Order: sequence, then C-alpha cells, then structure tokens
Amino acid sequence: MKSELEAIVEELKRLREEGVSYVNVSGKTLQYLKNATIEGQWMEAASPPEAGSSVAVEIPDKVRSASPEEFDRLLREEVGEKPNAPTSCSSSLGSPPVFSLGEGDKAQRWEALREIVLNCPVCQKHTRKGFKTVFGVGNLDADIFFCGEAPGGDEEEQGEPFVGKAGQLLNKMIKAMGLGREQVYIGNLMNWRPSLPARVGNRPPTREEMNFCLPYLIGQIEIVKPKLIVALGATAAKGLLGFDLVRSLREVKGVWHEFANTPLIPTYHPSYLLRNDSKRDKRAVWEDLLKVMDRCELPISEKQRQYFL
Ligand code: URA
Repeated sequence: MKSELEAIVEELKRLREEGVSYVNVSGKTLQYLKNATIEGQWMEAASPPEAGSSVAVEIPDKVRSASPEEFDRLLREEVGEKPNAPTSCSSSLGSPPVFSLGEGDKAQRWEALREIVLNCPVCQKHTRKGFKTVFGVGNLDADIFFCGEAPGGDEEEQGEPFVGKAGQLLNKMIKAMGLGREQVYIGNLMNWRPSLPARVGNRPPTREEMNFCLPYLIGQIEIVKPKLIVALGATAAKGLLGFDLVRSLREVKGVWHEFANTPLIPTYHPSYLLRNDSKRDKRAVWEDLLKVMDRCELPISEKQRQYFL
C-alpha cells in the first residue's frame, strides 16, 4: 500500500512544482485513491466514477501553498499515511553499475553498451514481465541529446524512448526545429518504467533508481558526444543536475548548465505541455529550443522566431 501512496505523493509534488493545481485521474485511479484515504476525505466524489472516465481532483489550498517539506507532510496526512512513515521506495538496488565502454567505433561501442543495459540483472528485475528494458535511440553523431525521465507504458511495450503521446509531441518539437527524429539522440534517465503495483499512471523515479541508471546515460553521452543536452522536465533536470527540491523547474529552465562536460538546458516535459495546452508554456519551451538551435548553429527563420507569439 505504501508504495502506491509514495508514488502518488511524488507525482503530485512534481505536478505542483510545474504549477499544476488540478490533476486528471482515471476512474480506476480515483477509486484506488479513495480506498487509500480516510473515507475518501481527500476527494469529494461521492460515488466511484465509471471505469475509464476522468475526474479532476483539486489539490487542497493548504497543500498547494505549503513549503516542500510541509507539502510532503500534509499530503501524507491527506492520503491517510503517517507523517513519518518510512518510504517504501528505499529498498536497495545495489551499487550503480561499473562497466567499460570498450573498443571500436561509435556504433560498436553503442551496441556493446546497449547489450550491457538490456542484460543488466537489476534492469531486468525491474522491467515488468513481458515488457522491455528501454535504451536510448537515435543518431550517434547527433548534436542534440534529448533526455527524458523514464519509460512509460508505450515505451516499455516497444522498448524505445518517447514513442507514446509525449513522444509524438517531442517529434513535432524536433520537426519545428527543422530536424527529424533520426537526426537527434533520445534517451531517458531510467531504463525501466518505475514500478507502480496498481499500474495506474506513472511515477517519477526515486533518487536511488536514477543514480543506478545514471552511468548508463553517461555512457551514451560519452559515445554520442552531443553538442548539448536538453533535459525534459523537472525530474530529468534534478536527476542530472542534483537540484534540491526547493528549486522549481520554472527557476532553472532556459538556463545553460553542464552535465558530463556537456552544456545542458532544462525545459518543460512534453507531457506537461500535453496537460497544459497554453500558448505561454509552448512559447516558453520554444524559446529554450531557439537557444538550442542557436547554439547548434541551425538556421532560424523569422517565422520560426515568431512561433507561439
Ligand atoms: N516520458 C519520458 O520521460 N520518457 C519517455 O520515454 C516517455 C515519456
């Protein structure tokens, strides 16, 4: 039970950081949440919605305006969990993997690393039966390395990052830059979909999970040697840059940082844009992508400069 609550708390914290006040949950999730709360007091739905329907749940004001620590405590209270309950995501994964990138050209080293990751016992253990561990894809000579958070349902099914709805939007973003998906590299912090026993929605990876997979991501960056990395979303930004929870993505996005000796710019995750269909947020992401294009010396037309204005 705790791991589901932990996952929900993590996800709501992430959404809150991105400025979201309302979340849509499926009928099944709502029912699950209601079961997990004291008499469903967190939500007001009197009866369970139809399976498959979607319900907007308001994050209570006192929770929304709290400091991060308060937020965590209040939310745990709201979902009926003891404030100091140990988190169930803290089970040890063991030390992050140590491996050598081996000899050969880029393609050979990439293939060798891919084999290591797909055969990694910890990745295999955490990948759901019948689904796939996910390794990065793309052009090994790419200038741009997009880094997301973790595979979702579509990705674990197909074994490729960003192939679901967020991936389709990412493809459009890449196209708007005048590029094709095959010209960039796309990876994730995580190689498996963070487990959620009820398999409702996704949860962000824990710090321990991210730390375990990080060497695999660094390996890909070392092979591709991109000109820059675009970190998609708060979790990727935090996982790569080690921000404390207090700084929101809003504060750090659009600014150049560095990871693995490579310039890195954080921006909003495509899923965030899918949830918040606002021109302002699209423009905010687009401005970051204009910076990326500029740094990669890609041609920028007047029309491109004006997108979402
Ligand atoms: N979100 C991510 O962060 N990565 C994916 O691969 C898909 C969705």
